[in-house]
Amino acid sequence: MAVDVIGLITADHRDIEALFERIRETPENRPALVAELAAKFVAHSRAEEEKVYPVLAKKDPSEKKEVHHGAEEHHEAEEILSRLIAADPDGPDFDGPFQELVGAITHHVEEEESEVLPALAKALPPRRLAEMGREFSERKARELSGPTRPAGRSKEELLQEAEKEGVQGRSQMTKEQLITAIKEKKSAA
Ligand SMILES: [Fe+2]
Ligand SMILES: [Fe+2]
Repeated sequence: MAVDVIGLITADHRDIEALFERIRETPENRPALVAELAAKFVAHSRAEEEKVYPVLAKKDPSEKKEVHHGAEEHHEAEEILSRLIAADPDGPDFDGPFQELVGAITHHVEEEESEVLPALAKALPPRRLAEMGREFSERKARELSGPTRPAGRSKEELLQEAEKEGVQGRSQMTKEQLITAIKEKKSAA
């Protein structure tokens, strides 16, 4: 039987976990491995957000909150990824964002595999799950072959959100400072 969307998503999760292991074990290869991780995580996330989460939310509205939360977790992880990419792979600042990223993605994957994927299996017939597998894979391929862009949001997007949140002095801030300021505003709200 062809691998359906659930099988494809699960295989990607194991692939990303294997990359964590390789980043730990081969520090000399970190720049390439972090770039590979970012590309794969972003492609997987966009494909889920466009081809999987909305289908589930429509079919089973009680899952709406769960999939919205899932997309938020993707964006949080991408913000940590952009900090990891900016960090010196041999420096003391690599480990902090790396541990944070492993924690965030591990938590997200656990939730997805225990909540979202079982709900998907219940809501849709095997034929539709197989078809979604093809759509998921195509969407991922499109992201992976597209122009490379850094993980996370662009500075412009961050500036817009900072304005919405009322962050003072935003025009003088770096991307990292904007991310932190937005986060602080949100947690204070
Ligand atoms: Fe996933
Ligand atoms: Fe996800």
